[in-house]
Amino acid sequence: MEFLEALKSRHSQYALSKDINISQIEIENYLKGILTYTPSAFNSQSQRMMVLVGEKHDQLWNQLIEIMKGIVKGKQFENTKAKLNGFKGAYGTILFFDDMAVIEDLQEQYPLYKDNFSKWSVEQNGMLQSNVWVGLSMKGMGASLQHYNELIEEYIKTNYDIPQKWELRAQMPFGKIEDPAKEKEHMDVNKRIVVKK
Ligand SMILES: Cc1cc2nc3c(=O)[nH]c(=O)nc-3n(C[C@H](O)[C@H](O)[C@H](O)COP(=O)(O)O)c2cc1C
Repeated sequence: MEFLEALKSRHSQYALSKDINISQIEIENYLKGILTYTPSAFNSQSQRMMVLVGEKHDQLWNQLIEIMKGIVKGKQFENTKAKLNGFKGAYGTILFFDDMAVIEDLQEQYPLYKDNFSKWSVEQNGMLQSNVWVGLSMKGMGASLQHYNELIEEYIKTNYDIPQKWELRAQMPFGKIEDPAKEKEHMDVNKRIVVKK
């Protein structure tokens, strides 16, 4: 697939199932490759991923349903629950983290760039998320990007044995696309780019 075609094929896919036709080991190796070749400032390689499948994936979304029960009430909770059950219906979830121990080390070593390192940490994690999202699409799988970070971070650290310094950035449910999303509207790209000669 050509690069632009690959970018165009990625959408936020919400109607996902577990019925994928690619092996677990192939997915793992593919994600390892994407993680290895995504850049980072000073080659710090602070990005971290955890891939949840099977029971562990279901457990995450069940826990979020429990958490949301205490926050969202009545009819609105039913909608929230349906949405979260949708994510649970996917094959797996990729959790994206940044190891802040790596970032803090760099901040100590290079005080001149102190503020930049925390910004770059978010940027390089976004690069990884995008690469994974497009990469999954190239393999015919769908995904969406979720941010329940503050609600679920402690639970994840405790139950999935994650170091305290790993900061949770995003959750990406992925799986077989059951009902393809429509392409969103794009504003006039000429209003977003400036070329000077
Ligand atoms: C930084 C970032 C944060 C996002 N957060 C969420 C989110 O929390 N939940 C969600 O459903 N989509 C989220 N999205 C997806 C966007 O809403 C979506 O990419 C955008 O509307 C364009 O649609 P498309 O992905 O189908 O092209 C996020 C996207 C980005 C880049």
